[in-house]
Amino acid sequence: MILQHVAPVVSNTLIAEGIFLLTVEAKDIARSVRPGQFVNVRSTDGSLPFLRRPFSVSNTRGDLIDLMFNVVGQGTRMMASRRIGDTLDVLGPLGKPFGFAGNFKTAIMVGGGLGVAPFPILTRQLEEEKKSLLTLLGARSAKHIVAKDLQNTQIATDDGSAGFHGTVVALLESSLQSKALADPKIFGCGPTPMLKALSEFAQRSGIECELSLEGDMACGVGLCQGCPVETSHGSRKYALVCVEGPTFNCHDIILR
Ligand SMILES: Cc1cc2nc3c(=O)[nH]c(=O)nc-3n(C[C@H](O)[C@H](O)[C@H](O)COP(=O)(O)OP(=O)(O)OC[C@H]3O[C@@H](n4cnc5c(N)ncnc54)[C@H](O)[C@@H]3O)c2cc1C
Ligand code: FES
Repeated sequence: MILQHVAPVVSNTLIAEGIFLLTVEAKDIARSVRPGQFVNVRSTDGSLPFLRRPFSVSNTRGDLIDLMFNVVGQGTRMMASRRIGDTLDVLGPLGKPFGFAGNFKTAIMVGGGLGVAPFPILTRQLEEEKKSLLTLLGARSAKHIVAKDLQNTQIATDDGSAGFHGTVVALLESSLQSKALADPKIFGCGPTPMLKALSEFAQRSGIECELSLEGDMACGVGLCQGCPVETSHGSRKYALVCVEGPTFNCHDIILR
């Protein structure tokens, strides 16, 4: 069931360069959301921006949900200015959660930029399922790394200011070359070029892989047809990211 909350803001903190952790009280969403699902946020009390903005639920604690976001435009600037006691109109939980199918023993979470956002709640579920965990995070520089509530984390930066100097997918290749992992499955989230490289690597290596896509959305609930992703098989050429995703098995979609 999709729920709408006019949710009180409990905290809104700058946690890295341009990155905020916003916590709101949204009891029914907090109790029903699963890892990989998102909420659609009305970022203004006025009329602009007109469309809601999608954000992964990053974590939950009791009745609270955490959203981790990068300030990139008008909507996220308005979210960054929310103070304790303000409210935020959130709709969710939306989309298909990460799947746990397959006999994997080690979950490798691979995040590019704010692709790390859904990993804290995913980490909790994987821990409950007694999986071994490896978390690989890629960012432009050390200032853009957020590694809160994660396990066994390695870092890659584009400028070499922390951890591995290079992309997070190159870090994954190098980690797997130096140490074999028992029955791995990859969970990836981040910008499309990174997910495309991750998908190609997973398919080349024969490793199961689920991807969470971050592309543009308008309605977020399957009405506007504004969020297509190309499918690799079946009778339909496109799937809708907002209702059939945002998580997909890497074999089921073609990223360009
Ligand atoms: C399912 C889903 C989950 C998401 N979860 C998160 C999350 O947890 N944290 C987070 O920070 N972001 C997340 N995003 C992206 C987030 O929705 C956008 O960053 C946000 O809508 C931007 O709104 P804005 O009004 O600030 O920027 P706009 O004014 O809409 O855009 C400003 C600039 O940013 C670019 N831009 C907008 N969206 C994206 C994007 N998705 N990727 C790259 N560039 C973009 C635009 O092209 C434009 O150049 C998610 C997206 C999806 C589809
Ligand atoms: S965003 Fe409208 S159909 Fe997906």
